[in-house]
Amino acid sequence: MKRPYIICHMVTSLDGKVTGDFLGRPECAAACEVYYDINRSLKSNGFICGRVTMEGSFTGGHYPELSEYKPVHHKTDYISDDLTGFYAVAFDPKGKLGWRSNKIIDPDGDPGYGGAQIIEVLTEQADERYLGYLESMEIPYIFAGETEIDVELALFKLRNILGCETLLLEGGSIVNGYFQRADVIDELSLVVAPVVADKGDKPLFTDSIDSGYELIKAEGIKGNVVLNYKKK
Ligand SMILES: NC(=O)c1ccc[n+]([C@@H]2O[C@H](COP(=O)([O-])OP(=O)(O)OC[C@H]3O[C@@H](n4cnc5c(N)ncnc54)[C@H](OP(=O)(O)O)[C@@H]3O)[C@@H](O)[C@H]2O)c1
Repeated sequence: MKRPYIICHMVTSLDGKVTGDFLGRPECAAACEVYYDINRSLKSNGFICGRVTMEGSFTGGHYPELSEYKPVHHKTDYISDDLTGFYAVAFDPKGKLGWRSNKIIDPDGDPGYGGAQIIEVLTEQADERYLGYLESMEIPYIFAGETEIDVELALFKLRNILGCETLLLEGGSIVNGYFQRADVIDELSLVVAPVVADKGDKPLFTDSIDSGYELIKAEGIKGNVVLNYKKK
């Protein structure tokens, strides 16, 4: 099945964790800079994040008053006719994200994120009024699964309906785990920061299965190790 090429791009701790307070430690600041530099340099049709990451980075927990929106009774994809080719793809199975705009508004105008057109990937659990809200905001949405997002189906649609050839998978741990288990991560781009995470922090892939990669490049940049691997 034709799907986009997936590059999982993440900052990790020395012990392979990706969530938690270590990301805010001063020793991690340079890793974040390197991460954003690489993000800007990777040619892609945008980035995919899990609902929790999208909420933390962009929507800040905002949620629309659903009673204000007309329910949409069909469960079919909604694709607007102004597709831009550069997307912020939210894996949001139940439709929990409250967007204030249909594009990512980055105050620094970061070309890695700013202006990306939001695409919601939903399951049939999403409220019909949430669909009405997305349509009122002209936010395209696609369905992929009944209760959990079927990663392969979502990627098939992202390639064949939205034309995505390459997408960055940018966390967090849970969504990365779904992709790893579906065996659709073609490349890993990791910035390993000189920090150790807390015991409760989550790994690069939640609930992973074993798999192998080939090291393509390893270099030290600003006190971090930058690693690039490809699937064998
Ligand atoms: N180190 C880095 O480079 C980096 C990058 C990005 C984020 N982060 C960190 O990651 C943290 C969040 O990570 P996280 O692992 O807790 O959450 P996450 O992966 O961002 O989001 C998980 C949620 O996404 C939804 N989801 C994703 N794929 C799904 C699928 N196939 N089927 C069903 N639901 C799916 C579910 O939403 P529902 O809960 O709504 O069902 C799930 O609970 C943030 O705090 C952020 O700091 C780190």
